Amino acid sequence: MIGRLNHIAIAVPNLAAASSLYRDTLGAKVSAPLDQPEHGVTVVFVDLPNTKIELLHPLGDNSPIAGFLERNPSGGVHHVCYEVADIQAARDRLKAAGARVLGGGEPKIGAHGKPVLFLHPKDFCGTLIEIEQA
Ligand code: CO
Repeated sequence: MIGRLNHIAIAVPNLAAASSLYRDTLGAKVSAPLDQPEHGVTVVFVDLPNTKIELLHPLGDNSPIAGFLERNPSGGVHHVCYEVADIQAARDRLKAAGARVLGGGEPKIGAHGKPVLFLHPKDFCGTLIEIEQA
């Protein structure tokens, strides 16, 4: 059911330092920071030949990654995003299998303008999973 790895999101306490690490130390192509107020994050996109890394930093008072950074003050992998062809069909299959779909199970428009859902990390090897209709 899942297809390509769309991105890996890494929460970082210092976006400039993380950008420099990926650009200068790791030699990757790194975007300018992009505020996404509707998602409570500022994002830097790191383009890799086969996928993207998204460096996430909290934006605003109710950022969904604020708690994660409190628990992981030096940052860490926040979620991985897999592509699916049909998000409703994917949701129904996951729910039937007993997986917990976060946020009531209704897809929301994600950071790339496409429908997304998040799956409970306790059901998936301790990893928060985002599925995106590609
Ligand atoms: Co994501």
